[in-house]
Amino acid sequence: MKKGVIFSGMRPTGRLHVGHLSVLENWLKLSDEYECNFGIVDWHALTSNFDNTEGLNKNITLMCLDWLSVGLDPNKSPIFIQSHVKEHVELHMILSMLTPLSWLERVPTYKDQIQQLGSQGKDVSTYGFLGYPVLMAADILVYRADTVPVGEDQLPHIEFCREIARRFNYLYQTDVLPEPQAKLAKVSLLPGVDGRKMSKSYNNDIPLDATREEIMAKVQMMVTDPARIKKSDPGNPDVCIVHTYQSIYNPQEVEEIRSSCRGGTIGCVACKKKLADVLDKELAPIRERREQYANNPSVIKEVLADGADKARAKAQRTMELVRSAMKI
Ligand code: TRP
Repeated sequence: MKKGVIFSGMRPTGRLHVGHLSVLENWLKLSDEYECNFGIVDWHALTSNFDNTEGLNKNITLMCLDWLSVGLDPNKSPIFIQSHVKEHVELHMILSMLTPLSWLERVPTYKDQIQQLGSQGKDVSTYGFLGYPVLMAADILVYRADTVPVGEDQLPHIEFCREIARRFNYLYQTDVLPEPQAKLAKVSLLPGVDGRKMSKSYNNDIPLDATREEIMAKVQMMVTDPARIKKSDPGNPDVCIVHTYQSIYNPQEVEEIRSSCRGGTIGCVACKKKLADVLDKELAPIRERREQYANNPSVIKEVLADGADKARAKAQRTMELVRSAMKI
């Protein structure tokens, strides 16, 4: 007996890195307990990148490959491209009719993003961008999902989704659309190797497909305690990126490393070597699975086509209920 229905999605913005692992591992765990649906939300990518679609298709394929490599099982939970299930649009359009403009204007991420993207020279004062939360609500509600695993940054969007579901149910005196709950995962916020936010565009990330050599090279770049010159100098693990990683990926050894660092008995080179070893161990099974799929590219196409068929069947059932509640 499943605990409920989940929808979650990611924008196909590029290759994934170890910073995404905790989210994906959470999805893996949830796919045993819930009926899960995982969407690569390409229309969401258009909301801010409508003028730069180059690379979108490649990013979709890469994202699917990354998901399969971490072990998501498409036979258990459909993996699909949002734009292959047109019912998302139909529900989005219907919900847009009953969405008060003021609700959208007061979504906190909206003004933030307009400002942030504006300062990068990007004008997103568009209809589509304002409607982003409606599209996201449609993604969730079209599967009648009751649970949505998301990061904290997405909470206002889930709250918006609940309000829209409530409004729909009230207007049409129905209970077709459940009000979904956000499921916050314990996500470890992993900094990039230079201490900034981890991002492919800063080249401070460790990609999920990194080889042992690439892992070693990235670990070499990690910033350690700048006051520590010689190995015998006492180090301060609290200002060291290598240490942040050790505490997440090497919990068995971290305490010992910590005191050896403070005591000046383990040097940064040895400490980095230990970290590279554990990271390599973590990524090895992901690399292996990836190879199977990469050697067989038609599998990705089949997974996505089959996922869209399964997702569409569920979404069509919801839309029948929605239209019948609305008498349209
Ligand atoms: N807005 C989410 C993000 O940027 C992606 C997303 C789109 C999503 N639709 C969703 C997440 C539905 C959960 C459920 O991260």
